[in-house]
Amino acid sequence: MTDDRLIVALDVPNAHAALEMTQQIGDAVNFYKIGLGMLTTGGLALANELIQEHGKRVFLDMKLFDIGATVESAVRGLAQFDLDFLTVHGDPHVVNAAKQGAAGSNLKIFGVTILTSLDRADLDNCLLQPGDIKDLVITRAAKAFEAGADGVIASPQEAALIRALPEAEGRLIVTPGVRPAGAALGDQKRVATPYNAVNDGADHIVVGRPIWTATSPAQAAIDIVASLPKT
Ligand code: C5P
Repeated sequence: MTDDRLIVALDVPNAHAALEMTQQIGDAVNFYKIGLGMLTTGGLALANELIQEHGKRVFLDMKLFDIGATVESAVRGLAQFDLDFLTVHGDPHVVNAAKQGAAGSNLKIFGVTILTSLDRADLDNCLLQPGDIKDLVITRAAKAFEAGADGVIASPQEAALIRALPEAEGRLIVTPGVRPAGAALGDQKRVATPYNAVNDGADHIVVGRPIWTATSPAQAAIDIVASLPKT
C-alpha cells in the first residue's frame, strides 16, 4: 500500500542506479527525493523519467541560494518539469523569488532552515547571529513562511515547535533524519522514529539509507509505512 508521507532519498551513486532502485522498490513507494549530488549525474533526466513514465512524485533537493532574479529564473525553468517539491535556502528574499518563479505551476517551495550538519561553532564561523540553534531554526521557519514558503525542511526534533507556530498553519513540514528503531544512524545525529516524526507534526518523512541499503528495499519501505500513525 503506497503512502505519500514516505519520501525515499535516492542517494545512490548515479541516475542509472537510482532508476534500478525505484524499479526494485516498485509500487511500495510513490515519492522520491533527488539531491544535488545526483544532479550532476543525470538527476533531472531521472526526475523526468520517474514522473512521466513511472507516475512517481519527485522532490528535487537543490537548496538554491542566489540573488532573487537568478533564483526566480532557475525556479521558472524547473517549474516546467512537473516536480512536486523544490528546496531553496529559507532566507526570505530567496523564498520570495522562488515563489515568483513557481507561479502558475503546482511546484511547492520548501525553505531549508539551518542545515542539520551545522553546529554552533559552524554558525559562528559563518558569522551567523548568536543564540541557540533551535531558536534560530524556529525563527527562520517563521520568516520562510511569512515569505510564502509552502513548507520547511527541519529535523524531526524541531517539528513540534515549528508545527506550533501560527505562521505554520496550512504549511508543510518535511523531516529527514528519520530512523526506524534499531536502524544504523550513519552520520545523522538528531533523529526520531518515523512514528514520532509524523506524530510531532511532519507531513512527510525523508528516509534514505535504511531503505536503499536494506536487503529488500521494498519491504523496508512497507515496514516504515506500516509503523506510521494511522491517517
Ligand atoms: O540516508 P538518510 O536517511 O540519512 O538520508 C537523508 C536525506 O535527507 C539525505 O538525502 C540528506 O542529504 C537529506 N537531508 C538531511 N538533512 C537535512 C537536509 C537534507 O539529512 N537537513
